[in-house]
Amino acid sequence: MLSKKMEEALNEQINREMYSAYLYMSMSSYCTTVGLKGFANWFMVQYHEEMLHAMKLYEYVLAQGGHPILKAIKQPPSDFESMANAFNKTLEHEQFITKSINEWMDLAIAEKDHATQIFLQWYVTEQVEEEGNDNDIIAQLKLIGKDTQGLILLDRELAGRITTVPTEFSKGIAAAMKGTAG
Ligand code: FEO
Repeated sequence: MLSKKMEEALNEQINREMYSAYLYMSMSSYCTTVGLKGFANWFMVQYHEEMLHAMKLYEYVLAQGGHPILKAIKQPPSDFESMANAFNKTLEHEQFITKSINEWMDLAIAEKDHATQIFLQWYVTEQVEEEGNDNDIIAQLKLIGKDTQGLILLDRELAGRITTVPTEFSKGIAAAMKGTAG
């Protein structure tokens, strides 16, 4: 069972993960329009990951007898100055998500809600990976600078990213909850 405060916090996190999905879908769209289909692929894979993050929360709130309340998703930006700009914004957003997860973990600890602490642990670990991925790409983009050839090579590399997330999100939840996907 969740406290009302914890339920509201997890519902807020559902909205933040849905916004993350929306943001990365928007970045994917932008990358395609500027001819960088590998970057577009990378962001679309990230979109799938975020949808899974949202659905895991949704299922958890239901499993705990709560009511997932879906709020409006704000409009993400649609234009970016460069790939470096898009990835700096991505890292900034992930740092916000990390802070948000930490805040809910602090609440679960304060409330002695052991089940939610264990549940949120998966997100704590996931955020380390998310920020790490962004930092790696930002470092490569710094090396590339204004070298178009380098950007095209990185685009080819990012075209190879594949999703480990089931595209039918709701069917993948059981596996994901056991940590075998996502
Ligand atoms: Fe679901 Fe990228 O944090």
